[in-house]
Amino acid sequence: MTEAFVRSTQPKPVDVEAGKTYWWCSCGASKTQPFCDGSHKGTDKTPMKFEATETKKVWFCGCKATAHAPLCDGSHKALESPAAT
Ligand code: FES
Repeated sequence: MTEAFVRSTQPKPVDVEAGKTYWWCSCGASKTQPFCDGSHKGTDKTPMKFEATETKKVWFCGCKATAHAPLCDGSHKALESPAAT
């Protein structure tokens, strides 16, 4: 199984439109984060479909560690560097 590449440790805010479909990058290799650009080809990862039911801002996961893909669930906080003391 291919591990997802951590592109960012922050969520990506996107203004989605009701009725539109979005393809979230699950592999982390896409250069058009948080969306798929086809870079997953050759891995066992596939993009995840997100169908917007409302027009609103949503936060797509950028770290690929969320348990509620494709949206951020706060899991990225465990990946961030601890603050200097
Ligand atoms: S960016 Fe991945 S859980 Fe927040």
